[in-house]
Amino acid sequence: MDWGLQNRISQIIKPHNNRALMLAVDHGYFLGPTEKLENPKKVIAPLLKYCDSLMVTRGIQRTCVPATTDTPIVLRVSGGSSIIGEDLSQEDITVSIQDAIRLNASVLAMSIFVGSKYEYQTVVNLGKLVSKAEKYGIPVLAVTAVGKELGKDERYLSLACRIAAEQGAHIVKTYYCDNFEKVVQSCPVPIIVAGGKKIPERDALQLTYDSIKGGAVGVDMGRNIWQSDHPVAMIRAVRSIVHGNSSVDQAYNLYKKLADEGSKKKNRSNKPTQTKPTQTKPTQTKPTQTKSDPTKK
Ligand code: 5RP
Repeated sequence: MDWGLQNRISQIIKPHNNRALMLAVDHGYFLGPTEKLENPKKVIAPLLKYCDSLMVTRGIQRTCVPATTDTPIVLRVSGGSSIIGEDLSQEDITVSIQDAIRLNASVLAMSIFVGSKYEYQTVVNLGKLVSKAEKYGIPVLAVTAVGKELGKDERYLSLACRIAAEQGAHIVKTYYCDNFEKVVQSCPVPIIVAGGKKIPERDALQLTYDSIKGGAVGVDMGRNIWQSDHPVAMIRAVRSIVHGNSSVDQAYNLYKKLADEGSKKKNRSNKPTQTKPTQTKPTQTKPTQTKSDPTKK
């Protein structure tokens, strides 16, 4: 494998343990200002140091991520449809390779929609993107199975992941399912699991644990982190599974402890500072020298 390609992959999938924790904040590209991601800059800032890489669009990268960061960027380069449009699967490549290089992307990410109306277009686009990106040593991550109309079972996910790998994707992102090991076994490149819609924190930690146990290199999690009431506590708990081999119980206890500490800190800083009641000097009002009332004599 080319040195540049290998180096970029190892920025995302840490070579010492072959694990990856990606923070996904690219949702706005078809969802707009989705719940709790209305202000991406505020969301990203406290989480950046806890993820191995950040998945964003170029617009959010330029406006909401400090250029001084050393967190590698997984740049979403596909789009074209919205949640209120006709068909979410009608995507094209929206970012040139030159712009991706200018943005110092470590990986390019795009979606394929196997089994949808635009299957052909998205799968061909993946092959073309791999050919272009490989010229510059940039790996491609294929996102599979987004969209509610597609069954997210072992059969479908195996098909979609394998097709992505056959087109040359270097990493595949998909969903967890029963018999997930089978999806991993039939895909020759590393698989990373998407978090999906918000579920209770313990369940999201279980999903992380099961994904890794099933053979995924890690998770690319979005909503289950930043839609949590305690995003920092949650990303740290997820991290403890991905990189610390924590059990679900250990990770959940860590989440609760950090969430509790966070709440206490917030409460303290929200309390109005207790200032001593200002001791106002009683104003010495001179007894008004009323002219003696001659009538009171
Ligand atoms: C959407 C994406 C998201 O990055 C992906 O779904 C991960 O985010 P979440 O954990 O919220 O599902 O690729 O197309």
